Amino acid sequence: MNMNCNIVLTGFMGAGKTSLGKAAAKILQVPFLDTDDMIVQSEGMPVSEIFQTKGEAYFRSLETETIRQLGGRKDRYVLSVGGGLVMQPENRPLLHKAGLVVYLKVGIDTLARRLAQDTKRPLLHQGDGTLEEKIVRILAQREPIYQAAADVVFVNDGKPFQQAAREIASLAVSIS
Ligand code: S3P
Repeated sequence: MNMNCNIVLTGFMGAGKTSLGKAAAKILQVPFLDTDDMIVQSEGMPVSEIFQTKGEAYFRSLETETIRQLGGRKDRYVLSVGGGLVMQPENRPLLHKAGLVVYLKVGIDTLARRLAQDTKRPLLHQGDGTLEEKIVRILAQREPIYQAAADVVFVNDGKPFQQAAREIASLAVSIS
């Protein structure tokens, strides 16, 4: 398939960026990239350990470095970025340089269900309140930024998985 642009998936933890991004990349026959995976590989430790031993600010600086490097790539890809990456203002133009920014928007109930068993995301395991309260609190801060930073808001309101993946993939071929 002839892609006009790369796809860059943003959105909250548990929105399905990785699973739908992988499926869309398969449809488009291009590599799937993930900023968290790239950071984990280069640091040689999981995200939770980076947060624990080096702190969140260090992790955020790695995110900026990673998205900056990706903007320089000339090949086509589908990219998923960590849910907090969009919050650093300097990252937003870098996201747009990397590709078409698609905000994967999912309801709080779905997020809470998917994240209930999570052990890998440090932001969900710190601070006060239930998981749902944490999601509501963090999402309230982020939602306006996710919206403002997006070229496309893709509401995934329970569409069949393959259909959602096909629709996301088609964004890369329909926009000139
Ligand atoms: C984070 C999201 C995570 C990961 C880290 C911080 C966030 O990625 O980057 O735990 O701030 O929302 P996913 O969105 O892929 O879960």
